[in-house]
Amino acid sequence: MILTHPSSGEWWRSAVIYQIYPRFFKSTTNGVGDLPGITSKLPYISSLGVDAVWISPFYTSPQKDHGYDVSNYRDIDPLFGSLNDATELIQKANELGIKVIVDLVPNHTSDQHVWFQEALNSPKGSEPRNRYWFREGRGENGELPPTNWRSVFGGPAWTRVEDGQWYLHLFDSSQPDLNWENPEVREEFESILRFWLDRGVSGFRVDVAHGLMKDPELPDWDHDWAMVSGLDDDSVSAPPMWDRDSVHEIYRSWRTIVDSYEAMMCAEAWVHDDARRSLYVRPDEFQQCFNFSFLSSPWSKDSLQNVIARSYEVNNGVGAPTTWVFNNHDVVRLPSRMGLERTGKGPNGIYATDPQPDFELGTRRAQAAQLLMLALPGSAYLYNGEELGLPEHTSLPDEARQDPTFFRTKGEEAGRDGCRVPLPWVSAEPGAGFSPTGETWLPQPDGWNGFAVDVQEADPDSSLNFVRKALALRSQNGLGTSGIDDQSTDTTLDYLVGDIRVITTFDDEADRPEGWRVVLSSTPVTDTIGTDTTAWLVRD
Ligand code: GLC
Repeated sequence: MILTHPSSGEWWRSAVIYQIYPRFFKSTTNGVGDLPGITSKLPYISSLGVDAVWISPFYTSPQKDHGYDVSNYRDIDPLFGSLNDATELIQKANELGIKVIVDLVPNHTSDQHVWFQEALNSPKGSEPRNRYWFREGRGENGELPPTNWRSVFGGPAWTRVEDGQWYLHLFDSSQPDLNWENPEVREEFESILRFWLDRGVSGFRVDVAHGLMKDPELPDWDHDWAMVSGLDDDSVSAPPMWDRDSVHEIYRSWRTIVDSYEAMMCAEAWVHDDARRSLYVRPDEFQQCFNFSFLSSPWSKDSLQNVIARSYEVNNGVGAPTTWVFNNHDVVRLPSRMGLERTGKGPNGIYATDPQPDFELGTRRAQAAQLLMLALPGSAYLYNGEELGLPEHTSLPDEARQDPTFFRTKGEEAGRDGCRVPLPWVSAEPGAGFSPTGETWLPQPDGWNGFAVDVQEADPDSSLNFVRKALALRSQNGLGTSGIDDQSTDTTLDYLVGDIRVITTFDDEADRPEGWRVVLSSTPVTDTIGTDTTAWLVRD
């Protein structure tokens, strides 16, 4: 069955985009990653064969949620460098043919943002308060929150201020939600978009794109919204704070700005329903929207086949490419997730006392999954360290944890620190060469040095060289823009993508088809393709 036809044109339709989390990528100073660190590694990034980088927030921020709490959208946090460092990074990346996408965080500001400080110091009902969601509480003396909404990070979504009013925060209390009904908020963000476009960025990854509009009546809602899964129960009434129809109007107006710079936008929208998610990539809105159904799929032939077919179906319906992704800074790293008893979106972090992933099995599946993803027409995102096959850190001491989910759930969830460990660059150096002093802001697990880039560069069979080969072949064969035909069997995924046949096995081995030879595979293939393997084949 033909799932999609070849596409051409805009670069983002087939781009491979590498996510960089500045804090743990490379430090040039004291053990916290920084922008000069990223700039120093541009040749490495270029050697991977990616088209663009997406850089997680580097703006001025108290770092309560690792930069997703922005206090100044037009400057760089001193932890990471200066505006000049950012300009230099963008220019040097562009010189190497790498586009730069920056993160935009429009749902909330930091509580240290000048707007929120002004709101706190202004009376009830004032204009500064109207940039956020301030409300009176319920109960006799307003001592109860205005609604029963829960924060995504755990606990109530409202915090009370001195004069008795409450403000809304769908995430941490240090991240007050902006009121997008207010035209001033809209104007401010349009100006922020232009600020960064004028500095040469090629696009934006838009944080919590499904959350900006709230039902202004603020009705109660009796459900929790998980960070990673969204809402899994279709019988639940539409949430008053997520995926509201009115949110799309914002993106239509952004699109006209972004188009005038020939830039793009990618939505982070944890919308469970694939058809509703595709609305974000209608022709006059986002160019891309992360395919979180794919990321959340269990490692099973039927599940992946269905997700892939459904993704093409809904996105073809609006003329958009699909944006494949398995990893980011919010989920357990893939080799660990794939080595758990239950594969799929995984838990929110893993403790040393939890059942530990089977790393060998997880790695085998993760490489098969990666090679499947990189064959699929559309765009694909890789998360820094994914090319090294890094596992999740599952034995972090609690004292080291920083994720607000760990604190707000009172330790019920370990949180996301385990996928944010400083990267290993040089095996023989302290801190695996992450910083000149050997310091790392988060401890690295035992064995981390063995994953270092220098070790993997020297090993033709390393995960790093495997990803490089895959990206080179993907590009040579135009896989990102090819048509795809699904000829899967009951046990095995089998796609024809342009001239490349892509076979993925699960619990059962498969025969290598006659007349086809392997050009790349995630485990060695003879006449048989072993279990949990992806192979790319061409006609003999
Ligand atoms: C997004 C980010 C996540 C952050 C949250 C609040 O989901 O990916 O890291 O904590 O938004 O900004």
